[in-house]
Amino acid sequence: MIGRLNHVAIAVPDLDAACAQYASALGAKVGAPQDEPDHGVTVVFIELPNTKIEFLYPLGDDSPIKGFLEKNPAGGIHHICYEVDDILAAREKLLAEGARVLGSGEPKIGAHGKPVLFLHPKDFNGCLIELEQV
Ligand code: CO
Repeated sequence: MIGRLNHVAIAVPDLDAACAQYASALGAKVGAPQDEPDHGVTVVFIELPNTKIEFLYPLGDDSPIKGFLEKNPAGGIHHICYEVDDILAAREKLLAEGARVLGSGEPKIGAHGKPVLFLHPKDFNGCLIELEQV
């Protein structure tokens, strides 16, 4: 069921500084910031040869990233995203296996314009997992 690693998301306390560092020190191809009001984040994608890095920065007062950055002021890995072919089939299988889907349980449209779901980190070794249908 699980497919490729789509991206690793890093919450950053200073988006401009993080972009400048990846562009300059790492020579990375850094995309333009995109506001995602439905998710309470501003995202920047960095293209690597085999996957992407997603910078997450809080957008709005009830951003889910705000609390994360309060606990991790220097930033940190926030989630990893795996690709699936059929997100509803993946959800049914995971629910049957006892995993918890966050929020309403219905897929939302993620930063790439594709349906995504998040799985409870306590069910996955402390790691928040995003599934994206590709
Ligand atoms: Co993501």
